[in-house]
Amino acid sequence: MHSLFPKETCLPPKILYQKGCLAELAKETAPFGPRGIIVHGASFEKKGLKETLVESFRSSKLAPEFFCRAQGEPTLEEIERVIRKGREVRANWIVGIGGGSVLDLAKAAAGLFHAKEQPAYYQEGGELREKGIPFIAVPTTAGSGSEATSNAVIINPEKKVKLSIRHQDFLARKVLLDVELLQGLPFSVMCQSGMDAWVQAYESFISKYATWFSENFALKAIQLINRHLIPALTNGREEDLNGLLLGSFFSGIAFSHSRLGVIHGIAHPLGVLYGVPHGLICSVCFAPSIKLNLPVIRQKYEVMSQTVGMDLLKRVTGVLAELKISSPFKGKAILEKEMILRETLKSGSTAANPKPVTPEDVLFLLDEIF
Ligand SMILES: [Fe+2]
Repeated sequence: MHSLFPKETCLPPKILYQKGCLAELAKETAPFGPRGIIVHGASFEKKGLKETLVESFRSSKLAPEFFCRAQGEPTLEEIERVIRKGREVRANWIVGIGGGSVLDLAKAAAGLFHAKEQPAYYQEGGELREKGIPFIAVPTTAGSGSEATSNAVIINPEKKVKLSIRHQDFLARKVLLDVELLQGLPFSVMCQSGMDAWVQAYESFISKYATWFSENFALKAIQLINRHLIPALTNGREEDLNGLLLGSFFSGIAFSHSRLGVIHGIAHPLGVLYGVPHGLICSVCFAPSIKLNLPVIRQKYEVMSQTVGMDLLKRVTGVLAELKISSPFKGKAILEKEMILRETLKSGSTAANPKPVTPEDVLFLLDEIF
């Protein structure tokens, strides 16, 4: 039976959606205690945001520590480093200001702050008994939707796997949605993260766990991203950046209540094996997933086509062509095919795909993108 409402909702208790609201960060962290860590990426310093923040914390008589993370996706070892730094300063909270990788790292470090075991234990499904410290999310890309979810995607380089660490308490206590932070993003970052958000909304909308609640957030995300992605990339107008920022956030709310689909199932092993950005993999799997699922999603396909104003598959291939996104795998050999099959088929995302996914389906996807 199609359900109206999820069995359990999981929404950040406070969301600030206002241009310039980064300036409120010191005030918003204060109720959680005086000491904290701000996790960020390299572009944060280049944009001069660090000085602005230091100044605003100083006027609140607070001095947070900063943790600048390297490029790439977060690893288990990196979580341990943030926790170690946080424990040294007896942090009361952790803020993540950045894209999905920064938010996931800060979220996992805050959630596992008092954990007795190593992060790998929880990634393998170990039960977390200790409460962490508050996590505050400030996305600077649109986006992974990580600001709306209670899981962090983390790489275990030794085992060559990329898996979520998930706990309801990981959810951000506060989210600051500030459109100013999206200004000046590199083209490739905005393009790939925007496509990731679109794919997430699509997978959520067709997920077999979708409800009226998640579908409405997913469909609004599809509408916003479809309307604003290309204009945001070409002219950077605030109205379009705002559309993307909200589209990404809604996509996160949607999929955190419905899970995803086979694109996210296959994107994780491919990301680890080839070191290709997550958003790029999702982009090139978009059309193949539509072809795979179409026989079982006809009605929803019509709704999505109406939402984007034309046949969805044509729209997706048109947008990818306009953004000059092509498969980075074309012409390459498929490495570790057995491992890709195994990881894709056992993924929780794949389990939510509306068409039950067979090994042949995974091979079809690989064939489409290689
Ligand atoms: Fe994604």
